[in-house]
Amino acid sequence: MRIGIFGGTYNPVHLGHIWTARHVREELSLDKLFMVVAADPPHKPDPARLAASIRFRMLEGALENEDGIFASDVELKREGKSYTVDTVDLFRRQMRGAEIFLIVGADMLGNFPSWRDPAGILKTAKLVAVGRPGNESELKTLAQNIMSRFGGEVIVSSYSGPDISSTEVRRRMFEAEPVDTLVARKTEHFLYENALYMPEEIVSIRAKLGEVIRRKRLKHTMMTCLEAVKLAKRYGADTKKARLAALLHDCIKLPNKELLEYCAGNCIDISDEERQNPYLIHSRLGAVLAMEKYGVTDPEVLSAISCHTIGRVGMSLMDRIIYVADKIEPTRDFEGVDEIREIAYRDLNRAMLLVMRHSADYTLKSGRAVNPATESVIGYLNTLTDIDPEGNNG
Ligand SMILES: [Fe+2]
Ligand SMILES: [Fe+2]
Repeated sequence: MRIGIFGGTYNPVHLGHIWTARHVREELSLDKLFMVVAADPPHKPDPARLAASIRFRMLEGALENEDGIFASDVELKREGKSYTVDTVDLFRRQMRGAEIFLIVGADMLGNFPSWRDPAGILKTAKLVAVGRPGNESELKTLAQNIMSRFGGEVIVSSYSGPDISSTEVRRRMFEAEPVDTLVARKTEHFLYENALYMPEEIVSIRAKLGEVIRRKRLKHTMMTCLEAVKLAKRYGADTKKARLAALLHDCIKLPNKELLEYCAGNCIDISDEERQNPYLIHSRLGAVLAMEKYGVTDPEVLSAISCHTIGRVGMSLMDRIIYVADKIEPTRDFEGVDEIREIAYRDLNRAMLLVMRHSADYTLKSGRAVNPATESVIGYLNTLTDIDPEGNNG
């Protein structure tokens, strides 16, 4: 049995880690590779690091469909500071007779001599250094030095993948930039669902929302943020405003009865149409609450919240981004949604037309009349020259 141990803080795990694990497992013919989450690594102090249990859950999720690669929490179960020499020794005792390879990032090789008991580590495991592009010869010299000083074997892997870092993932989450090219899809969803690495303002609004709206609605809200940020980036809109508008777009989305009670209790006038279709109220009221309860003053953000249900003729780019993101976010599941998702990144107006037609059809099928404002927007979108009214182009 040949096993690999690949430790890291995984704050968060990204595609660079996963590709490295896959490659090294193949290169060294490892039967099993364990990615070990560091609980409290002595060499990488960082007060902003997420709780180890959360980092472990993210890692587990990201590795769900990987062959022969597993998330390990052995260091989390140990008290006090974690030392690699203890981890390696634990695997040696648990997997008697196995040949053990300890995989480390190239940046770790330089300070390996200062780790606790380097000779002890090299007695139990072979050290495998995985480089970043361009520094292979430097790594080989380092490897030679370590071997002559502590004995054992140090291997320099041939792999040098793209330069992805957890720091960059965290920066993008904070700055409202897409992370879909840096992390596994499952990780991306987890990051958004839990508002990880986001600014305090966003985290606290999410916490307040959690007290008002249902759990499923909160998940939809956070996934709308994810989609809105990506669409905003694609169309050159302000991604932070898109994230905020998405975060608050359903801030008062309650079951119809509760929504009517809310309006009655707060002296809010509603039209006959809204009385018949109370869900229409939540977008208009959402903009009011975004301002009064959550302190949003930006007219672009408020407008996007207020027209996300029925739309309006002449919607701004931000309005359209929120409208579409709401309907195609990753948890949405209706016939044809995948096609619309793909179209949304090529032609936002066409995607809008398709989702509007879809909801208009749904309204008609459930025996209700389509809202006149929605009909006007559909009519307007139909007049745009690049859109085939039948939806056959593209
Ligand atoms: Fe809504
Ligand atoms: Fe929504």
